[in-house]
Amino acid sequence: MADMALRDLRKTYRRKGRPDVAAVRGIDLEVPSGELLGLLGPSGCGKSTTLRMIAGLEEVTGGDIVVGGRSMVGLPPQRRNIGVAFENYALYPPLTVRENLAFGLSARGVDKREAARRVEDMARRIELTDLLDAKPGGLSSGQKQRVALARALVRRPDVLLLDEPLSHLDAAQRDTTRRELKRLQRDLGYTTILVTHDQEEAVSLADRIAVMKDGVIQQIGTPDEIYDRPANLFVADFVGEPVINLLPGRVDGGAVRLSQAVRVPLPEGVRVPDGREVVVGVRPEDVLLSGAEADLRGTVAVYEPLLEMGLATLRLEGVDKAVVAQTAPEVRLNAGEAVALRFDPHRTHVFDAETGEAIR
Ligand SMILES: Nc1ncnc2c1ncn2[C@@H]1O[C@H](COP(=O)(O)OP(=O)(O)OP(=O)(O)O)[C@@H](O)[C@H]1O
Ligand SMILES: [Mg+2]
Repeated sequence: MADMALRDLRKTYRRKGRPDVAAVRGIDLEVPSGELLGLLGPSGCGKSTTLRMIAGLEEVTGGDIVVGGRSMVGLPPQRRNIGVAFENYALYPPLTVRENLAFGLSARGVDKREAARRVEDMARRIELTDLLDAKPGGLSSGQKQRVALARALVRRPDVLLLDEPLSHLDAAQRDTTRRELKRLQRDLGYTTILVTHDQEEAVSLADRIAVMKDGVIQQIGTPDEIYDRPANLFVADFVGEPVINLLPGRVDGGAVRLSQAVRVPLPEGVRVPDGREVVVGVRPEDVLLSGAEADLRGTVAVYEPLLEMGLATLRLEGVDKAVVAQTAPEVRLNAGEAVALRFDPHRTHVFDAETGEAIR
C-alpha cells in the first residue's frame, strides 16, 4: 500500500555491433496508493521493459522510480516489496504449488501458520485448491499463470506488476479470475500496473489507463476520458473496437469538407481557420442512420450482421475512405441500398492532420 512515481524513466538497450534500442523514452507517471493503472500499447512499445525496471529486473538508463517516497533505483529485486506476475511465470519446478506460493513469505517475517492460512485462502480465491500439491511441470499454461498471479498476490506487496496475467486462461476462467483479481486489488489496496492487449480487460479493471507508443506515454486518463476524448490520432485509433473512422478533410466555413459533396459540421465550440487540413474522427456507434437530421447520403457496400450489433460499411459520395456504422442488431441492410446518415455532433472529434493532436 504505497504510491508510486516514475520520473523521466528511460531505458536504452545497447547491443554490440547493432544500433541501440531506445525502448523507454522518458516516462512520467504518478500512481496513487491503491490505484490500478492499465498500460496499453502496441507490441514493442516498451511496456514490459517499464515493468521490468520497476521490479528491478532491468537496470534503468535514466530517471527514477519512487515507491512510498523511497527511490528503488539500484535496489535488488528482493529488497523492493513488489509483486510480479509476468509471462514467463518464473515458478520453481522442484517445489509444489503450495511451496511456490509460500516461498518468500517466511523471509518476509510471516509465521508458518499465518503463511499456510494465506496460501489456502489465496488458492481458494484463484481456484487452485486442487493443485496445491502438484508441481508446476505438470500444469497447463493457464494453471501456471494462475499460480504466478496467486504468488504475486499472496505476498501482499506494496506494488503489484502484472504483465498479461490472464492471457493463457480460457474465456470462462478469465472472467472469474478477472473478477477475483479486481476484488483482491480493491480490498487489499494494491497499487497496481497491469499490462494487457485486451482492451475490455483494461476497461473493466483499470481506474486509469496510460496509452504508450514508441517508449512514450501518449495519454493518461480514466477509460471514459481515453475513449471519449482521445488526445491524438494514435490514441483514437488504438483504443476502441470496432475502430474509429478517421476521415481526412479541409476546414471550410465552420465545417469540414470531406469531398465536394460531403461536409460535416465542426463539433460545437471548436474553431478552426478555413483551409486547415484536419482529420475527422467518429466512432462507428456515433454514425447515426436515422433521424430527421440525417442529411448525408451513403450507399451500403457491405453489411455484417453480428451477435450484438450490425456493422455497415458505407460509401459517401467522393470520399475515398469507407465509413463504418454500427447498427442495432435487428437492423438489416443490403449491399447497394441507399441510406441517410449523420455523425453525432457531440461525439465527433477533429485532429490536426499534421501533428495528429486533437483540436478542442
Ligand atoms: N534485452 C533486450 N535487448 C535489446 N532490445 C530489447 C530487449 N528487450 C526488449 N527490447 C526491445 O525494446 C523494445 C520494447 O520491448 P518491450 O518488451 O518492452 O515491448 P512490449 O511493449 O512489452 O511489447 P509486447 O506487447 O510485444 O510484449 C522492443 O523494440 C524490443 O525489441
Ligand atoms: Mg511485453
